[in-house]
Amino acid sequence: MSGGNQQITFLRSPRGLPVPEDFGAAEVDIPTPGAGQFLSRTIYLSLDPYYRNVMKNSQIYADRLAPGDVMVGETVAEIVESRHPEFKNGDVVAVRNGWQQYATSDGQGVRKIDPTLASVSTALGVLGMPGLTGYAGTVFLAQPLPGQTFVVSACTGPVGCTAGQVARHMGARVVGIAGSKEKCDYAVRELGFDACVDYREGDLRAQLKAACPNGIDAYFDNVGGATLEAVTLNLAMGARIVLCGMIEAYSMDTPPPGPWLGPLVGARATMKGLVVYDHMNRLPEMTRVIARWIHEGSFRWKEDISEGLDRAPEAFCRLMRGQNFGKSLVQIGAAPQS
Ligand SMILES: NC(=O)c1ccc[n+]([C@@H]2O[C@H](COP(=O)([O-])OP(=O)(O)OC[C@H]3O[C@@H](n4cnc5c(N)ncnc54)[C@H](OP(=O)(O)O)[C@@H]3O)[C@@H](O)[C@H]2O)c1
Repeated sequence: MSGGNQQITFLRSPRGLPVPEDFGAAEVDIPTPGAGQFLSRTIYLSLDPYYRNVMKNSQIYADRLAPGDVMVGETVAEIVESRHPEFKNGDVVAVRNGWQQYATSDGQGVRKIDPTLASVSTALGVLGMPGLTGYAGTVFLAQPLPGQTFVVSACTGPVGCTAGQVARHMGARVVGIAGSKEKCDYAVRELGFDACVDYREGDLRAQLKAACPNGIDAYFDNVGGATLEAVTLNLAMGARIVLCGMIEAYSMDTPPPGPWLGPLVGARATMKGLVVYDHMNRLPEMTRVIARWIHEGSFRWKEDISEGLDRAPEAFCRLMRGQNFGKSLVQIGAAPQS
């Protein structure tokens, strides 16, 4: 058969927000499966925010796109011709066919879908990769306790709605953040969230303060940027933030101002606030350990000592200019003889 397989291709990396001209189109022959392969017909193509980063050829993803390549992506597809021992015609599978009507696969990474669980499209949403993201990030990282306030942004999407509803099932008080009144109404009415704030209404910090009077115990961040900032101004003691996605920045050509937290996601990093006074009971332990190292000669330090009280202002100014080298001290009186 000639043709019959429509494809959408990658043409160029978008500048800012993607436009249709960043994509191309092609029609090729429907491929024939080889031994150990199957041919499947795409039913649903998943559109995920991370594709925007793939289109930048971002290092975090294994996918690489050259102009003319079929756009990559997850799909739900029906097997129409199987030469693979573990898959038969009619099986519905989650497979990375990309943006095209037909593709062959050797079965690697392919998941059979149980159509009795829910509509097969959910394998790309709440019962697929986005759902797992929301579930795992909430259960294993955010860990909301019953009665705690859990906030999630992009709260009506597959990641956010899963995170929020999992937190609700864990007994948390759930507050969503979304970009319209319609989305917020849905979050409260259908998803069972306790409240939802619309950031497009302005002053998100104040809206969150009103919706979370006891502060935010856990925040599931899908957006980053100004939304994350507004949340950080409303944190409760011991709060946890799960950095999941930063969609606000995906279409920016250079990272937004302020510390760019994107690498934390790739590195699965954790950031924690430290206040020394919470650890005062460790002072005797620390003294014992470090004094022993000093005694053994395996611990060094440096002091930057100015002589005389009148030198204190200048020494302090040097410290604040970063011109001290070692612990900044002012010697005001004679040290006792040791
Ligand atoms: N870490 C991981 O492994 C992982 C895995 C999957 C997904 N993710 C991330 O999770 C996030 C949610 O993914 P999803 O698939 O569930 O997407 P989604 O919620 O269906 O769609 C993205 C939503 O982001 C919100 N948004 C806020 N600011 C935006 C902006 N400046 N531009 C565009 N959209 C903006 C919009 O909702 P509102 O109008 O409600 O704001 C939009 O509907 C994304 O950041 C994604 O990259 C991370």
